[in-house]
Amino acid sequence: MNRYDGMSALVTGAASGIGRAMALRLADEGCAVLCADIDQEGTESTAAEVLEHGGKSAAVVLNVTDSDAVKEALERTVSEFGSIDVLMNNAGVGGGAGWDKTIAVNLSGVYYGLLHGCKMMAERGGGSIVNTASVAGLNGLVGGPGAVIPADINPSDGPGAYTAAKHGVVGLTRQFAVIYGKQNVRVNALCPGYIFTPMTAGMRDREGRQEFLESLHPMGRLGEPEEIASAAAFLASADASFVTGIALPVDGGYDAR
Ligand SMILES: NC(=O)c1ccc[n+]([C@@H]2O[C@H](COP(=O)([O-])OP(=O)(O)OC[C@H]3O[C@@H](n4cnc5c(N)ncnc54)[C@H](O)[C@@H]3O)[C@@H](O)[C@H]2O)c1
Repeated sequence: MNRYDGMSALVTGAASGIGRAMALRLADEGCAVLCADIDQEGTESTAAEVLEHGGKSAAVVLNVTDSDAVKEALERTVSEFGSIDVLMNNAGVGGGAGWDKTIAVNLSGVYYGLLHGCKMMAERGGGSIVNTASVAGLNGLVGGPGAVIPADINPSDGPGAYTAAKHGVVGLTRQFAVIYGKQNVRVNALCPGYIFTPMTAGMRDREGRQEFLESLHPMGRLGEPEEIASAAAFLASADASFVTGIALPVDGGYDAR
């Protein structure tokens, strides 16, 4: 018996990295998945991979900064697959995008998913939402060798915006968990350490930088997207039925120091 048989999920940021791994993992456990991303080719490719492996999936182009579009994607999950049981509120950009865009995507985008997702799930009897925060939702980011902030970005904007947005995601997680607890909607956050995805490729490429990033994690390595997806699949499943409002580090010990 798969944990997600007969269930349906919306995964944002499904074209790449962690979101792609989440979509594949949920589908592998029997969940129908609507893959949503601003990157059309990428999100269609993830949905195609699910279908190739015998799962149920479809793709939708979604900009999470558009509140109405997020609501429509949740409704599309229901019309396409019959329910909305899980939302992976995962789409995000790196702090190099600057203050306005980082807050719009990484914080407001997550807020719209919670706003519409919790309401819809509560009306339908319950559900589970997992927000992708970060170790930057629990700590300030440190630089290290080769850490370059683009010339057109104020030094506090990049890491500052990313850290503010991710701390905000942890706060929203707690607040929505409290509001919707009695309506059977669980809301949790994941706080990944540094993960091998396209988002960190630019950092890892620089001389000495990957070694520095590895040294931040007591396990001495970066994580794989599948290691975040497996924690997400736990948090959204019935195995975590009494877990809500937490910010779970999945970080090779980064937060333990
Ligand atoms: N990679 C890491 O080290 C790391 C660590 C902690 C947290 N995170 C978080 O994990 C999440 C996924 O990041 P990733 O590492 O897989 O990066 P990624 O760049 O591989 O994937 C991010 C995806 O989000 C999509 N996206 C960006 N803006 C969007 C928008 N406005 N609307 C819809 N989709 C949009 C991108 O097209 C991309 O497919 C992000 O929230 C990120 O902040 C990543």
